[in-house]
Amino acid sequence: MRATVDRAGLDPQGRLPKVLVRRVRKGDLSRVKDVLEQTFGDFLERQLGTRPRQAFNGAQYVHHRWLMEPWGCFVAEEDNAKIVGAALAVAWGSVGLLGPVAVLTHYQNQTIGQQLIRATQEFFDENKTTLQGVITYPTSPKHLALYHKFGYHPKALTALMSRVLDRSAPRPATKQGG
Ligand SMILES: CC(C)(COP(=O)(O)OP(=O)(O)OC[C@H]1O[C@@H](n2cnc3c(N)ncnc32)[C@H](O)[C@@H]1OP(=O)(O)O)[C@@H](O)C(=O)NCCC(=O)NCCS
Repeated sequence: MRATVDRAGLDPQGRLPKVLVRRVRKGDLSRVKDVLEQTFGDFLERQLGTRPRQAFNGAQYVHHRWLMEPWGCFVAEEDNAKIVGAALAVAWGSVGLLGPVAVLTHYQNQTIGQQLIRATQEFFDENKTTLQGVITYPTSPKHLALYHKFGYHPKALTALMSRVLDRSAPRPATKQGG
């Protein structure tokens, strides 16, 4: 499957491209959210053995990421009708941050992810970023190889730390005035 960036046209064989990569529009936002939630739900289910109830809180962040940097947000759309992938990027001065990137499970391994990433790299070029980063899954050869193709090299394994608090239990009474 081939895609072009913001440019519908014929592919090298003279056929209409099935998947077009273009910038996100306001009306896409809820579908982009669904694609991210669905894709990461599938991925995390394969990794963890159980499906999270709402992957990354239902990917609500899409709306504010698009408001913050609309030029850095891209979708892959099939037949002008179905959003099958998305990539969000942001440029902070000379620093470019890529991610998340997601392609619906049944559309993976057809180069759509690379076409989305290429669009974000063009966005970084437009903004003349000099340092670019992406956070990814260090145990996945696919992810490492994919980003490596675009010149990203692993820097460090990061400890992801969390603390779960049970706020439902009644708090012990505290002594007053002691
Ligand atoms: C990561 C993701 C976006 C990639 O999208 P995709 O459309 O499947 O990727 P592409 O088909 O463009 O490219 C995948 C490349 O990885 C290669 N690859 C696949 N499995 C591989 C493996 N085990 N080892 C090395 N390379 C591998 C493929 O061969 C392909 O490269 P090629 O075109 O040179 O053959 C997609 O798998 C996804 O949405 N995953 C779930 C969400 C996620 O993890 N997002 C990224 C978070 S950082």
